[in-house]
Amino acid sequence: MPGIYQFSLDKVLDEVKKAVELGVKSFLLFGIPNHKDEVGSGAYEENGVVPRAIKLIKNSYPDVIIIADVCLCEYTSHGHCGLVRDGEILNDETLPLLAKSSVCYAKAGADIIAPSDMMDLRVAAIREALDEEGFTGVPILSYSAKFASGYYGPFRDAAHSAPGFGDRKTYQMDPANGNEALREVEEDILEGADFIIAKPALAYMDIIKEISLNFNIPIIAYNVSGEYAMVKAAAANGWIDEKKIVMENMIGLKRAGATAIITYHALDVARWLRE
Ligand code: PBG
Ligand code: ZN
Repeated sequence: MPGIYQFSLDKVLDEVKKAVELGVKSFLLFGIPNHKDEVGSGAYEENGVVPRAIKLIKNSYPDVIIIADVCLCEYTSHGHCGLVRDGEILNDETLPLLAKSSVCYAKAGADIIAPSDMMDLRVAAIREALDEEGFTGVPILSYSAKFASGYYGPFRDAAHSAPGFGDRKTYQMDPANGNEALREVEEDILEGADFIIAKPALAYMDIIKEISLNFNIPIIAYNVSGEYAMVKAAAANGWIDEKKIVMENMIGLKRAGATAIITYHALDVARWLRE
């Protein structure tokens, strides 16, 4: 996507510096390992790309907030977010690996753990593991209302994480089922989520609104890769006024009830807000 890159470890501090100078102080990290395997080992390797990046960033910028995304799909050869046996996603067997990844990132210095896998009961498993290892103060930002969406396409291209077979509909939610999103949020809060994510954002503003009216918890809207790509493509063709459209989208998300927004437009928005 225009303006979006994978960064190697030697480039990551340059990008963080640029962002910090513009006033962006929170980062959500995703890792792409050298080797993908059946069990996503790269996700919980102590010396993996994400723990190394966390240490680098925290060493130079101790005050920035590092959120570590927790999922297996960037690390598995089959591209699914959980372990797979005979073509089936194994929910319960995946939980210890998500917990292990979370502890690994917390040890490296992550401020917040953000599970995006959508396995049932993973927030409880992660909370327990973090507490056991002494990370009682590390909060969980749970992707609670995550729909099985076509809007993740550019991300999967970038992370080479499209599922090799089937789809994610057995663990991500049905776009037609808004009630399930509310149930997932409720469950995650009971399991110990400290704040929650709703995604995609723009086609799901009703969900953000409903969550904000029904639950007393910060909601983070995730303005995903496909949403960004559409705006960028139209802008590149001169069909829309990029700044106006992006700011309108951001304001819409705030109006819907988002406490904060995760977006690929972040640096542009920061720049425009300063202007
Ligand atoms: C991994 C993950 C995805 C996104 C965030 N975490 C992709 C997916 O579920 O396929 C999507 C991000 C984006 O589109 O910007 N579970
Ligand atoms: Zn995943």
